[in-house]
Amino acid sequence: MACPWTMLDLVPALRERVTAAVRAAFGEDAASTDPAVHRSDHADYQSDVALALARPLKRSPRDVAAALVGHLATDDLVAEAVVSGPGFINLTIRADNLGQGLDRMLATEEQPSSRETVVVDYSAPNVAKEMHVGHLRSTIIGDAIARLLEFEGDRVIRQNHVGDWGTPFGMLIEHLLDERATGHEAGVRELVAFYQAARAKFDADPAFAERARRRVVLLQGGDADTLALWHRLIDVSVAHFSELYERLGVTLRPEDVAGESRYNADLPDVVAELRRAGLARESERALCVFPPGFTTREGEPLPLIVRKQDGGFTYATTDLAALRYRVRTLGARRVIYVVGTPQTQHLAMVFATARLAGWVDNGVRLEHVAFGSVLGPDRKMLKTRAGESISLAALLDEAVERAARVVEEKSPHLDPAQKARIAAAVGIGAVKYADLANDRIKDYVFDWSRMLALDGNTAPYLMYAHARIRSILRRASEEGTAAIGPIAVETPEERALALALLEFPATLARTAETLQPHRICGQLYEIASVFTTFYERCPVLRAPDPVRASRLALCTLTAQVLARGLDLLGIAAPEQI
Ligand code: ARG
Repeated sequence: MACPWTMLDLVPALRERVTAAVRAAFGEDAASTDPAVHRSDHADYQSDVALALARPLKRSPRDVAAALVGHLATDDLVAEAVVSGPGFINLTIRADNLGQGLDRMLATEEQPSSRETVVVDYSAPNVAKEMHVGHLRSTIIGDAIARLLEFEGDRVIRQNHVGDWGTPFGMLIEHLLDERATGHEAGVRELVAFYQAARAKFDADPAFAERARRRVVLLQGGDADTLALWHRLIDVSVAHFSELYERLGVTLRPEDVAGESRYNADLPDVVAELRRAGLARESERALCVFPPGFTTREGEPLPLIVRKQDGGFTYATTDLAALRYRVRTLGARRVIYVVGTPQTQHLAMVFATARLAGWVDNGVRLEHVAFGSVLGPDRKMLKTRAGESISLAALLDEAVERAARVVEEKSPHLDPAQKARIAAAVGIGAVKYADLANDRIKDYVFDWSRMLALDGNTAPYLMYAHARIRSILRRASEEGTAAIGPIAVETPEERALALALLEFPATLARTAETLQPHRICGQLYEIASVFTTFYERCPVLRAPDPVRASRLALCTLTAQVLARGLDLLGIAAPEQI
């Protein structure tokens, strides 16, 4: 029978049962207490409700718990309810319930569609500079969020807010012209070197710097030749980003690029609206908004500058225009910004201003998905030994090279082309997973040996668990009897696996709210770990039917869930590793 995955969540059903028991035992008033149901190491689930009720009822928690278990045991969901410790209630789920839930999960992964329109703003590197490791987190976390929300049924619009405008383009365009004059235009493909050369000339040569400044004026004035040169720089950059996205397995496409320049024509109107609404006023010849609640360290109102003294617009003006466009034109009901922690205040002020201006009503959620830094082994910002920031391409090369050594050791029998494919999947997957598996708000230490380890909460471990199950299933079909299901949950290992699998849909739904992909990683790690124990203790291929068919179904579902989970994180799950 088809059902959306989210319907499989046992917790709401258990909460209902506990509340009904409280009502039956202690009446309506008591029934408003949170039933406090959670997973537990000591039972399938546990409720702490008796601890909360003890004081208002003036009874001991164990007493309260004892009164409740009488009302809880033996229904269509709960097999057993027993008092434990100081007054916990341990709940055991009926085995037939677990089996049916798993059968349903295996039958379909269909999710409801078109919940709401969500804009996810992520990656957003700056044109003409190579993407470096600092852009890695936004790209990886943002893509996982976009994939997850899409899977959960949202209409996701990806927006790559690339930095494609501003004063650096004066020097870049002049440098491009100089290079053209000497027949060296191809140099622009080496973006980092190109940028550095332009920068060096700008600092050393006053005549060049003057030309660059005049070029900025031409660019802002919309001069056609200048715009053509600017386009050339943009195209090279976007092609470079696309190559890296492709390599990283990131779903951003060139058509998702909506860079800062996209909003140039809207900026005067954004400022005019802010003025008309009485929100923007002059301060030291700049035009500023002072959203309430933001103050300097001295307690002065903090300005969000929307037009500088020289008449130019700012990063903030552009963000306001982008937000207005996302809500008004794209119809977003949720706008998610995957941007590093240092921009927290900037975004908070932009959000507050957009609400004051009436561009974003209260029903629209604006969320800053912040994240910490990537640190080197010395716990300082990750840098090359020479102290430069590491290029993303170089980092990925190294990941694949190191993964190739792991594959060589693990699977020397594979042919070279297969090994290369697997090494790419493992290397890139390891880098992405290491980023996603950490609570994003924290900094994390970039550690090759940990992220490539075959045990622990790593991509290689999950990939290996998945590949191993696939090989079991291949063997089953070679033996000609690959019939699967229905699932009967009998041993404790099967039960542990069943509970972990059944929790997966709820974890996805919760993560779609909290936007913390590390919760998905934790859940996948638990599933892979309990599967390992299950496989050690419960024979699959050697078991007689119907146990064999049931266990093959458990294997199939575990592989599906691992592959789905990895896919939502943007990580491949090869058949073999
Ligand atoms: N390009 C910016 C940077 O490198 C990030 C842009 C983030 N998105 C936004 N809407 N402000 O810092």
